[in-house]
Amino acid sequence: MQIPFVDLSREATLLKDEIKEEIELVLKSGNFINGPKVKLFEEKFAEFCGVEHAISVGNGSDGLTFILKSLNIGKGDTVVCPANSFIASAWSIIAAGATPIFCDVNDDLQLNIKNLSDIILTSTKAVMGVHLTGKLCDVEEISKFCVKNNLFFIEDAAQAIGAANPEGLKSGSFGVAASFSLHPLKNLSVYGDGGIITTNDFEIAKKVTLLRNHGLENRDKSKIWGFNSRLDEIQAAIGLIKLKYIDKWTDRYIEIAKLYSEKITENVSKPQTKPGYKDVYHNYIIKVPTISREKIMNELSKVGIETKIHYPIPLHLQECANSLGYKEGDIPNTELFAKSMISLPIFPLLKNVEVDYVIENLNFIVNSLSF
Ligand SMILES: Cc1ncc(COP(=O)(O)O)c(C=O)c1O
Repeated sequence: MQIPFVDLSREATLLKDEIKEEIELVLKSGNFINGPKVKLFEEKFAEFCGVEHAISVGNGSDGLTFILKSLNIGKGDTVVCPANSFIASAWSIIAAGATPIFCDVNDDLQLNIKNLSDIILTSTKAVMGVHLTGKLCDVEEISKFCVKNNLFFIEDAAQAIGAANPEGLKSGSFGVAASFSLHPLKNLSVYGDGGIITTNDFEIAKKVTLLRNHGLENRDKSKIWGFNSRLDEIQAAIGLIKLKYIDKWTDRYIEIAKLYSEKITENVSKPQTKPGYKDVYHNYIIKVPTISREKIMNELSKVGIETKIHYPIPLHLQECANSLGYKEGDIPNTELFAKSMISLPIFPLLKNVEVDYVIENLNFIVNSLSF
């Protein structure tokens, strides 16, 4: 059996007719940028997250940069972000003109609040919490820390649409603002690049709305220097269709994760969900002994199971981050996890028979190795 890490064509096939119909309507309307579909998608997205404003942008990376710029964070400022994340978290800080400070992560791969107090500087203006794998970072403690230290708390919610705390508050509603990615691989995606910012702050909403569209207040008048980073009507129409399915598909991510957690051998470390929290399992990451990781991935590949690593190179050790002066050994948990994590296939249209095949083969491979 061949099990892809993600197969986007299954979903596209399922939604083909609905999507064709909606695209045709957009084509007929002649309205392709800044039109009614974008507006409606933003309204529905804000409602879903339980926030006042949602402002769509060209991608989730720009969303983070625009949030930082809207808070006047730039040259001479530092912003904390976890070292185990996608490069875009750090890039957005660089793109705003500021400098990232990398924080270690806990066993659950989320930002380590204890490490935070050791690394902030007088130049630090914000903490970017990344809800990695679709699990909320420690939003309550980070928020308290930020209030106490007069810092902005920004959410990188790229991977975490629908993740919630025990009170039902969702990702995108905890920080001063959050950025979501709508990249095709994300839990809520469009068929190209896309992103969306959420906030309850009217001033941030106003500023990022200018930033995404050349700083234009109207057709002719630019108030600030801005960018061209917009979601287009066709992608918004697709986003609207996908929003109808998000709860059902989130349930399926959780169901697959539950099967993995129940049936995968205890000889590997599996993700845990804190009681009452809703993790949406954008990725299901196990940890195995460093020495066996390559062998396990190779053996899985031989039986047709595709796996990935999120992420094999910590942000502070990326070549592009050389000038920031970090070295190996500086951020120990992140570095260890980079060598021991394996992401297993997970997507809503993965079938139970495929999930079972992954579990059986993984268990066989792991249990035949002597750790
Ligand atoms: C944690 C994280 N932050 C930011 C981004 C950037 O999103 P985009 O690809 O839409 O720019 C991603 C996307 O992969 C991500 O996973």
